[in-house]
Amino acid sequence: MSKRLFISTYGCQMNVYDSSRMAELLAPCGYRRTESAEDADLVILNTCHIREKAAEKVYSELGRLRALQQRKARRGGRMLIAVAGCVAQAEGAEIRWRAPFVDLVVGPQAYQNLPAMIEQALAAGTAVVDTGFPQVPKFDRLPRARPGQGVSAFVTVQEGCDKFCTFCVVPYTRGAEYSRPAAAIIAEARQLSDQGTCEITLLGQNVNAYHGAGPDGREWGLARLIVELAELPGISRLRYTTSHPRDVDDALIAAHRDVPQLMPFLHLPVQSGSDRVLAAMNRRHTTDDYRRVVERLRAARPDLALSTDLIVGFPGESEADFRATLDFVAEIGFAQAFSFKYSPRPGTPAAAAADQVPEATKVERLAELQTLLGAQQRRFNRDCVGKTLPVLFEKPGRHPGQIVGRSPYLQSVHVSADSSLIGRTAPVRILNAGPNSLGGALAQ
Ligand code: 5AD
Ligand code: SF4
Repeated sequence: MSKRLFISTYGCQMNVYDSSRMAELLAPCGYRRTESAEDADLVILNTCHIREKAAEKVYSELGRLRALQQRKARRGGRMLIAVAGCVAQAEGAEIRWRAPFVDLVVGPQAYQNLPAMIEQALAAGTAVVDTGFPQVPKFDRLPRARPGQGVSAFVTVQEGCDKFCTFCVVPYTRGAEYSRPAAAIIAEARQLSDQGTCEITLLGQNVNAYHGAGPDGREWGLARLIVELAELPGISRLRYTTSHPRDVDDALIAAHRDVPQLMPFLHLPVQSGSDRVLAAMNRRHTTDDYRRVVERLRAARPDLALSTDLIVGFPGESEADFRATLDFVAEIGFAQAFSFKYSPRPGTPAAAAADQVPEATKVERLAELQTLLGAQQRRFNRDCVGKTLPVLFEKPGRHPGQIVGRSPYLQSVHVSADSSLIGRTAPVRILNAGPNSLGGALAQ
């Protein structure tokens, strides 16, 4: 009998990938993914621990789920509630202190065990917790066959991080760096492409630190993997995220020059424009290192645009440090960026620093930074007007007769065209630009 599975995904794209893999793993056990938690047999919250706000959202969602769980129980049914992802990893069994009705707690490296954990929870009626880092990588225990993922799909190539930036929980929640063998990644990509996927985004917490075993017995870096994936006939676009400036090597820069499938849009977090703050963050790069990497990338691929991550209000950040960040943002000319107030995370070195920045200052700085970033993003979008960009069409638009796709720079592009173009790339003359999307017409 078919059981209803609802998965709610928070945080990064790797969680989106993990959620699909969990659904694929549970399909043979009779679970079918549904769009609502109402009446579900199993609800999985795939959580994010990167900032306090993200973690707190989980507890408010759990409160709502509890009511649904009780309602189902009154009708004689049972709803299992699972907390997966990085909150599960960071808090483990402690989740049960705040939410004793949670049935399963499963970390990002342990979800291949979900079928057995579910059986155990159903049989015993007590909570089952697994936040281990297994000896056999989870990828070896996940189903090899993946169902179609649509036009654009994610493939995890690397997980974990050894960089230990002083603000970041990732090295603790996702563990040490691990690279999947290249052959397994290529096989997964080939399968996706056979089922109609044209664009693959390679995922890793520190994706350009990728150093997986190659089928030739040598260690492959990310560039080698990209070159190989570009050979797959159906794959017209490749992307990768998230990178660290220190791990941009010569081969990766050459790939941006030589591999036309590699899109000219790169997410390269800088975090701050102040060298003093970067050192306190243990970023292991200076603003000058970053500048040089960007210069080399732009020399290799002149139409490259950049996106980044920025943190304001890191402990000890002075007004002058913050001004340096604003200057750096303007200097590099980021086309897009994510910016955050520093959020102290338990167990990370920066959380214990004495010179925390007051909340009001963080709020002010974030607003000022976001005003600048918003203006730069609008300018970048406006500068696209009049250009012809290749657009990969993904789905029907909101209005009849309209379809939506993505530009090389991940902007949504709305066009009046036949839906038979979905899954294909066509040149579009950009006619107008909004803050978050573009409009255009098919160019012939
Ligand atoms: N506070 C604020 N932002 C953070 N990030 C990571 N940890 C924190 C934190 N403690 C941001 C970084 C990172 C992005 C994914 O989240 O900018 O690149
Ligand atoms: Fe976190 Fe990225 Fe730094 Fe690793 S490189 S510790 S994932 S911010």
